[in-house]
Amino acid sequence: MVTEDLWSAEKYVKNASFVPQMTSSIVEMAKLKPTDRVLDIGCGDGVLTKKLSSQCAHVIGVDASDNLLKAAKAKALEVYRIPGQDILQAKTVLPDASFDVVFSNAAFHWILRKPEERAIVMQGVHRVLRKGGRFVVEAGGFGNVAEAMTSIYAFYLSRGVPRETIDDLCPFYFGSEHGYMKLLEDAGFQVESIGIFDRPTPLVDDVRGWIDTFAFNFYSAFPEWKQDLLDFVYQAMKFVSEREDGRWFVQYKRLRFSALKP
Ligand code: BEZ
Repeated sequence: MVTEDLWSAEKYVKNASFVPQMTSSIVEMAKLKPTDRVLDIGCGDGVLTKKLSSQCAHVIGVDASDNLLKAAKAKALEVYRIPGQDILQAKTVLPDASFDVVFSNAAFHWILRKPEERAIVMQGVHRVLRKGGRFVVEAGGFGNVAEAMTSIYAFYLSRGVPRETIDDLCPFYFGSEHGYMKLLEDAGFQVESIGIFDRPTPLVDDVRGWIDTFAFNFYSAFPEWKQDLLDFVYQAMKFVSEREDGRWFVQYKRLRFSALKP
């Protein structure tokens, strides 16, 4: 797993503009009140954080990527470089029980990537929420982008890379309702609602731009195979992912939950 910041705010704007655009119902689900203090985890370039800020008293954004945070700061938002795993310890910037709502869109599939860090992330969220506060999340769920993941795995397996090595390169956790319920309840949350739904997602061009924006970690260990990987996945997915008019779609599965700190 690479640790340097390979996120590009420019690629994100070009290939991921659908992320904040397809969020109206998760924002509605958050039911923000004008008095609410909100923490936006994985705020990225701040497009959605800005939208939240118009509906509540104050919003603070945190993210692991300095490149994306630079774009968020340019929107006059209060943001900090705090990876999800560090929320538990970040008591100066994020004091105990200081938020009415913790919100996150399209970030928890990255943040919970490592099994051993999942409980720590959930405990951090629990710490910063006030009693009665809500934790509202949308992220990639079980079976998300299956055609892309299967094609990427098939490429590396066909070149003799062991499955465990590919797992280490995979930057995602696509948890099920069952997996999330356990994580939430173990951390002391009461789950109000949870479910997974399909969201076919149009791409700006084709899957090669999508991989370059989101799944670049896969080729970090084998940079010499990057072009071969992109070509292989393009060919493998074309039949199921390209519409008659040439537009590409990836089959996203969104997991959404609302949980209470009792
Ligand atoms: C998602 O939002 O589900 C997602 C985005 C990028 C890569 C993988 C999943």
